[in-house]
Amino acid sequence: MVREPSQKMKDLVTHLREKINYHNHRYHSLDAPEISDREFDGLFRQLKEIESLHPELVTIDSPTQRVGAVPLEAFTQIKHEKPMLSLDNAFEAEDLIEFDDKVRKRLEHKGQLIYSGEPKIDGVAVSLLYEYGELKRAATRGDGFTGEDITQNARTIGTIPLTLLGSGFPEKLEVRGEIYIPISDFHAMNIAAKKVGEKEFANPRNAAAGSLRQLDPAKTAKRQLKMFAYSIGSHEGKQLPVSQIKLLESLGEWGLRINPLRRTLFGIEECISYYEKVLGDRSELDYEIDGVVLKVDSFLLQEKLGFLSRSPRWAIAKKFPAEEGVSYLEEVRFQVGRTGALTPVARLKPVRVGGVTITNASLHNMDEVDRLGIRIGDAVVVERAGDVIPKIKKVLIEKRVRPTTDIQLPSNCPVCGSIIIRNPDTVVVRCGAGLSCSAQRKETIRHFASRLALNIEGLGEKIIGQLVDENLISNVSDIYRLTKKQLTELERIGSKSADNIIESINRSKHTTLPRFIYSLGIPDIGEATAKELANFFGGIEEIGMASEQSLQEVPDVGEIIARNIRQFFSKNENYLIVRELVELGVTWPEMSSNESLPLKEEIFVITGTLVSFSRVVAKEKLEFLGAKVSTTITKRTTCLISGDKAGTKLSKAIDLKIKIFSEEEFLKLLEKYNV
Ligand code: IVH
Repeated sequence: MVREPSQKMKDLVTHLREKINYHNHRYHSLDAPEISDREFDGLFRQLKEIESLHPELVTIDSPTQRVGAVPLEAFTQIKHEKPMLSLDNAFEAEDLIEFDDKVRKRLEHKGQLIYSGEPKIDGVAVSLLYEYGELKRAATRGDGFTGEDITQNARTIGTIPLTLLGSGFPEKLEVRGEIYIPISDFHAMNIAAKKVGEKEFANPRNAAAGSLRQLDPAKTAKRQLKMFAYSIGSHEGKQLPVSQIKLLESLGEWGLRINPLRRTLFGIEECISYYEKVLGDRSELDYEIDGVVLKVDSFLLQEKLGFLSRSPRWAIAKKFPAEEGVSYLEEVRFQVGRTGALTPVARLKPVRVGGVTITNASLHNMDEVDRLGIRIGDAVVVERAGDVIPKIKKVLIEKRVRPTTDIQLPSNCPVCGSIIIRNPDTVVVRCGAGLSCSAQRKETIRHFASRLALNIEGLGEKIIGQLVDENLISNVSDIYRLTKKQLTELERIGSKSADNIIESINRSKHTTLPRFIYSLGIPDIGEATAKELANFFGGIEEIGMASEQSLQEVPDVGEIIARNIRQFFSKNENYLIVRELVELGVTWPEMSSNESLPLKEEIFVITGTLVSFSRVVAKEKLEFLGAKVSTTITKRTTCLISGDKAGTKLSKAIDLKIKIFSEEEFLKLLEKYNV
């Protein structure tokens, strides 16, 4: 029998954790380890052993608990207490001088201003919330107002402390910064992906974003993500340092990683030289940067300057010029999109630009081809700006020595062979075959299954491609007729993956009206318009029968969208597909008006894994009944839905005597309201 841990044992655990946290910080954040990896592993193993003998001593902030949380079904949305703004951009030195003039004028400041200079990291912006020094929550920036809860994944990142070091930090502190993947690790990742036939990432930023968006934290843990902290959001208790550079230093002392290239700069001239210096040193860094960020250093002055709508008046990003390379246009292929639009895509002789190999560039449309005067065989300047899709900047006419060939718009669809339709009013040319063209079928199905539509996890581009090519599905309703047997007959799909796909197909049947409308892929109807339509009409039949005139009464819907909706429903095949989907079991709760919502007083939190449907759908259902759904338990929380493998949230809810629903009880509640 294992005995109660003695006080001595408890002290040893605390001591080991402090020691591990300290050395973790030296290793990951300061790049200055004091002990060997072996010694570190020894400490870690010792702690793990004690914790396995005395599980009651395990705490959520123990360094052993970074990985190990159960995979999520979907990410929860989080509203930022203070919006995460963006920065105004400057491209020329004159823009900086103008910025400085404006700032000084506003402040009525005659002499030089002190600025802070930092590299602009090209990664993914995140927010980390610490309460009493403990990491409580991590979220992505999202649209600046709402992001996604990535706490489980952030916990696996070595440069993110689970507990802040030292003292003097505010009781509540929201740290903001950028998560990225080192360039060398990005290359290693792509080499490994290529070996097993997986899709490679276009650039380190995408690789970082993709790694953070893993539902299984064990997968994120395998990626070499790192973080630089650069500012704070909301905070309570304790006075903060008075300037940006001092704040960065404090963040460093509290265990966060701060960028070593930060500088205090006196006057705008020093800012310009700083930019030049960082630009010169850029190629030696193992992380991507796309410029420098200059901030008025004093927080008092920052406060006086305030904000414009989406960016602060006290900061500016001086962007680096786009990186360029020279390549040759080998071929132009025409891609067919969901609505049949043909896009010319340039196939280039592989060229490395800013550490990334470029083989394709979009030519957008034939007008762009004409504007560039480009021909097959031409030498071209390829430009890559940050995350943007590579672009052909210009043709090097002087290098045109070999014979070149004209780029011809095909007269038939490159996929299905149907005649191409040209509308003289627009530059867009289309394959008019609609769903009889397999490219349009694939894209339509892909859109239907995508995350913001019916969210059928596991049904990605490759599988859809195979299913369509094998004639197993030809429209979206066929998805609901798929069998496990059909799936396992496809290449590279085992029994387990087939089960998972079938399960997510079944789960997707419970959806909402806005998602359903969006999933149909009517041209120009995004999520927001789909919501407006759902709120206005309340049912799909009503939308299908509405006249163009009444459709235009909906906010967001103008002449073009109204016409697109009418055209969609006037096609018999579309009408039939909608009907079939409903017959095959796709359902959504009815939309109702706000006043009489039964759960309008309640604040729910959902924890653990639900079997009947994803957490996102559970949240939508609750919101539909008027409830608010939050991700953290507070005194204001009124109910907790506790699924399988619920963790700390459940114990916290018990402590706070919050009403707890099992999944079964939750289903009964929904049933009561016919949702
Ligand atoms: S400060 C009020 N500092 O750039 C804005 N941002 O367009 C506060 N970024 O989304 C941002 N490095 O993700 C700041 N040293 C740095 C940065 C930085 C990268 C990103 C950030 C933000 C975007 C702004």
